Amino acid sequence: MADKDDSAAALIERARKAATRAYAPYSGFSVGCAIEAEDGSIATGSNMENACYRLGTCAEISALTSAQQAFGLSKIRRIAVAGGHLGDDGMLVGAQAVTPCGGCRQAIAEASDLADHDIQVISASGDGETVSTTTIAALLPASFGPKNLKDADG
Ligand code: THU
Repeated sequence: MADKDDSAAALIERARKAATRAYAPYSGFSVGCAIEAEDGSIATGSNMENACYRLGTCAEISALTSAQQAFGLSKIRRIAVAGGHLGDDGMLVGAQAVTPCGGCRQAIAEASDLADHDIQVISASGDGETVSTTTIAALLPASFGPKNLKDADG
């Protein structure tokens, strides 16, 4: 039977595989994200860049959109991210773990607020060898979310 670390490794592999489908001709940095739901379902995404550079989309946003379609943001249990470049064999390589950018942290925090629980965030290097695990609350403390809009008009 797979233990917890094995299942994290499987989620990281899904993120690494998603990165091989990134469209990142400008940065050369391919990122993949795999999002696991409470029931074990997985949604994935990768970064998609554009000749108009500022219109690029991060892997996490792409995967969150896919997760919303597949099972809903409120069902998210944990998220794995991996990034690097594609080696000669087409596999993702790179030694540094990728941590979600500020904007992606804000988007993950929104899901955490909807789910009403913290979300685990697993950062992996391109080769999958370096892994660091934390949570969205630790990555984005004192965040602004839906609950901060209580005093809005209407
Ligand atoms: N990128 C992501 O996809 N996720 C992150 O959290 C950090 C950065 C992408 C955006 C851009 O396509 C490339 O990595 C280089 O910044």
